[in-house]
Amino acid sequence: MTRTRSTDAVAAFIGALVSTLMLKGASFGHAPWYISRSSGLVAYVLLTLSVVLGLMLSARSPRPLLPRALAFDLHQFLSILTLTMIGVHAGILLFDTYLGFGPSEILVPFASGSQPLLTATGVIATWSLIGVTASFWVRRHIGQRTWRRLHYVSFASWLLALVHGFAQGTDTHIPFVSATYILSAAVVAGLLTYRIGSRSGSRTPASTPPPHAGPGSRESRRLASRAASD
Ligand code: HEM
Repeated sequence: MTRTRSTDAVAAFIGALVSTLMLKGASFGHAPWYISRSSGLVAYVLLTLSVVLGLMLSARSPRPLLPRALAFDLHQFLSILTLTMIGVHAGILLFDTYLGFGPSEILVPFASGSQPLLTATGVIATWSLIGVTASFWVRRHIGQRTWRRLHYVSFASWLLALVHGFAQGTDTHIPFVSATYILSAAVVAGLLTYRIGSRSGSRTPASTPPPHAGPGSRESRRLASRAASD
């Protein structure tokens, strides 16, 4: 990221923060509640898709459903999109007058007065996902082994998100929503079992990018095109 781009990003972040705090006093009726619920479900589905793609990449199926290069790019893109949706899901709660969430309730585990344990599962999942996603950019500095271990944390994050959505969600009783949780759990569990079976004994996961690869980097593209020709 160039210096100008980082300055723009910081300015955009501060602008968004200031606007959010200025709007906090306004009343939006039930809208924040509906937006939070729907974006929470979208975030969960996106996270599941990202985990599924990561598992497909590392399982190294002889007949992959997607070209590896496409799966790799999609995996990174979905990770960032998931975090954006989580930002909407948690951030919009600041405008919900019923729960009365403030910045500490959405940022600090167990700080929420409403279902502290279940809300904490969402907050912890968020922080760990931020760590895992950020690791794409700092991999060169933290090393291959730490990066790979950190990546395994995404399974725990996904599990926490599943427990959080299933147990805390108002919409879990809707058949379509509960079916989504059950189906996603079955697919991730199945792929994880397949992955453990197919890769046991192997030391280097296929999805591991080379040391200099960050999202969108030249090295990442080189890996993707090389993987495509595998
Ligand atoms: C700062 C972090 C988070 C906070 C403060 C938070 C807060 C909440 C709250 C208060 C609810 C209850 C809404 C209701 O009663 O329906 C909820 C539901 C939900 N959250 Fe989170 N959450 C966070 C992170 C996450 C993450 C990381 C995911 C998944 C990727 C997620 C997915 C969901 C889902 C699927 C629901 C159920 C929606 C429904 O059925 O109505 N949340 N969250």
